[in-house]
Amino acid sequence: MKVPFVDLQAQHLPIKKEITQAINKVILRGDFVLGEDVERFENEFAAFCGVRYGVGVDSGLSALELALRAYGIGPGDEVIVPVMTFIATAAAVSFTGAEPVFVDVDPLTYCIDTRQVEAAITPRTRAIIPVHLYGLPADMFVLMRMADEHNLVVIEDAAQAHGARYRGRRVGSLGHAGAFSFYPSKNLGGFGDGGMVITNDRRVADKVRAMRNCGQFERNRHELPPYNHRLDTIQAAVLRVKLRYLDDWNRDRIAIAREYNKLLEQSNVVPPLSKEGRQHVYHLYVVWSVGRDSLRAQLQEREIATGVHYPNPVHLQPFYSYKNLGWGAFPIAEELCRNILSLPMYPGMPILHTYIVASTINELAGGSMNGHRGLQILDAVSLPSDGQVLGHDSVPA
Ligand SMILES: Cc1ncc(COP(=O)(O)O)c(C=O)c1O
Repeated sequence: MKVPFVDLQAQHLPIKKEITQAINKVILRGDFVLGEDVERFENEFAAFCGVRYGVGVDSGLSALELALRAYGIGPGDEVIVPVMTFIATAAAVSFTGAEPVFVDVDPLTYCIDTRQVEAAITPRTRAIIPVHLYGLPADMFVLMRMADEHNLVVIEDAAQAHGARYRGRRVGSLGHAGAFSFYPSKNLGGFGDGGMVITNDRRVADKVRAMRNCGQFERNRHELPPYNHRLDTIQAAVLRVKLRYLDDWNRDRIAIAREYNKLLEQSNVVPPLSKEGRQHVYHLYVVWSVGRDSLRAQLQEREIATGVHYPNPVHLQPFYSYKNLGWGAFPIAEELCRNILSLPMYPGMPILHTYIVASTINELAGGSMNGHRGLQILDAVSLPSDGQVLGHDSVPA
């Protein structure tokens, strides 16, 4: 039986009628650009997250970049970002003219390592971008305390964590601003690209609103850089319908993750960690497995699709080669990139598929985990064997 990695149809078919009606209304009104649904969706999503303002934009990357720009971050400034993330987190900083300063991630949560953040702060540091990676909130309490102490801005990259909670509060509402992506496969995804900045700071919201629409605070007066980063009305209409189901879909993801956790208990793969006070919404269910590539290939042979998020950390991307940061600069992220595997996960995934994936992994990577999860990852990083790093399939030059 084929097991897909995601199946968006499983999400769309039950609500197809509602979505079609919402799109048809936009077509009838003809307000395709910054129409009625955009403002409604902004208000509804901001309320859902527990903040005052939401500004819809055309992608998660734009949300990050415009949030940074709204805080006046640009050339000469430094912004601390984790290397274990999608390139957009760092690219948004680079596009403002500021310099992304990379730090490693925590081996237990895979989110930004707060001790390294503290060590990376310089007089030029203006902001920190924690990423709620795979749906697990980063340690916002520690980061906000640090930000207060050093007068820094915290912009949450919540592109993978719509609806997740940290100590009861939704992510995106904990920092000075939150940036979301509505890429189709996200926990809340549109029928194309989209994003949003949320904040309680009215001036920041106004600036993002002006910048996304040709730099205008008022019509025909272009005060700020005249970008076009608007969210399409049709996307907003689709997202408004889907927002009503987000909590249910996240509950479904959490139930699937619990099932995986239980079924994989006796396997040799390390399941994702969920920490007290942090609600993981499992945008991705990512396990760590020695010999990831061969496990992945064997799963593929049995028609079980998997993913790797991500095969390379950001500091090793060619775009950042000017920084001359080679292998070894951020060992935890490098180790993760070599040995993590994303298993099929989406709302509406048949429970049978969870069993098929887990039993196949148990068969291929059997045995019981010894040692604390995460500590194995540390071991893998620090125990060299024959000039290689233990637990790696290959060590690139
Ligand atoms: C962590 C993270 N940040 C930012 C983005 C950028 O979002 P978008 O693709 O909508 O620009 C993504 C998208 O995959 C992401 O996963």
